[in-house]
Amino acid sequence: MTDPTPAVRDRVLSLPDAELPAYVYDLTALRAHAATVRAALPERVELYYAAKANPEPEILGALGPYVEGYEVSSGGELAHVAEAVPGRPLAFGGPGKTPAEVRAALELGVDRFHVESGYELRMLAELARTCVPGRRVAVLVRVNLPVADGALAGSSLAMGGRPTPFGLDPAQAVEAVRALADGTYPQLEPRGVHAHLASGLEAMEQLAVAESVVSWATGLGVPLAEVNVGGGMAVDYTEPECRFDWTGYGDGLARLTEAHPELTLRIEPGRALTAYCGWYATEVLDVKRSHGKEFAVVRGGTHHLRTPATKGHDQPCSVLPVDSWPHPWPRAAAEGDQVTLAGQLCTPKDVLARRVPAPGLRAGDRVVFSLAGAYAWNISHHDFLMHPRPGFHFLAPSTEGL
Ligand SMILES: Cc1ncc(COP(=O)(O)O)c(C=O)c1O
Repeated sequence: MTDPTPAVRDRVLSLPDAELPAYVYDLTALRAHAATVRAALPERVELYYAAKANPEPEILGALGPYVEGYEVSSGGELAHVAEAVPGRPLAFGGPGKTPAEVRAALELGVDRFHVESGYELRMLAELARTCVPGRRVAVLVRVNLPVADGALAGSSLAMGGRPTPFGLDPAQAVEAVRALADGTYPQLEPRGVHAHLASGLEAMEQLAVAESVVSWATGLGVPLAEVNVGGGMAVDYTEPECRFDWTGYGDGLARLTEAHPELTLRIEPGRALTAYCGWYATEVLDVKRSHGKEFAVVRGGTHHLRTPATKGHDQPCSVLPVDSWPHPWPRAAAEGDQVTLAGQLCTPKDVLARRVPAPGLRAGDRVVFSLAGAYAWNISHHDFLMHPRPGFHFLAPSTEGL
């Protein structure tokens, strides 16, 4: 699922120039991938999808049969996901929840609150008492757990194990769990512990983190039913064929659940579920040489697909040659073997991929960037320079939904 699937390729080649750039999602490929992930996990591990990776309603819906629920991190995500996949379990996490967001979540009957601080716990307790009297609200305490030196070294984005605004320090988390357990907050039900310490970890690193979190949670001396060990499963943009080892990870989690039969384990990946099902397709507008290097300027850019700029990588891509040329002027074409693919923005940061082997690349050829299904459109600065927005295509068998 790195080169465009045949369905994506056909759609990209069938679109008129004016309908590019476009995001094209292969929902059949997404379902197949999610089914493989689900099958690799033990039954007693719940899979939640972190909606922040890609909250398009079609994506949320396609994942429905393979996930037990969705993790949301703001009032906006909460309202959106509740509408897109009504009735599905939601876990509400994220720092800086406002009283209005907490009230909305209570009224909506959110299944799990991930509490990020002592202050938030007290706010939630009071709002639960007044907004949903008589109901016990299920809470997981998010802990920022120090892990063994180097355990997060492979991470592209560490959110824990060091000073961050996320979760409670272990000593405060212990206090919070004990206060929940001793009845200080009768309106709150202590379900367990949550930790999301880093993004971009390989399977064995993830397992080590999961073991640390479970061992910490089960050592608290308070009976807890659930441990959510977060998301952050690696997606390798430099070697897209290297995939997260879901089988190895699932086997490790199976050993962990066998050792703790009283616990439900939960994970909440985003990127590694949806990155592979999305492509950003565009066309080459111009090809030029600058101080000895060749650049192809494509329609669109990092205001649509910010991922390579934020992560500092070259977005994997394929060229789809287009032989027809409708204009009376000659086509611009590359003279060398490698080009830098840049967007239309007036900033040198608007680069999607460097050193792309594309001998003879011409204006009018199409380029399809892969691994664009997560943290792509929704993290981009769309309005900079006021270029038109891309189109969105969700490919699914025509019989789907009949
Ligand atoms: C609390 C939490 N859970 C899950 C995720 C999903 O992480 P990823 O998309 O790397 O799997 C994030 C990402 O920031 C997060 O903050």
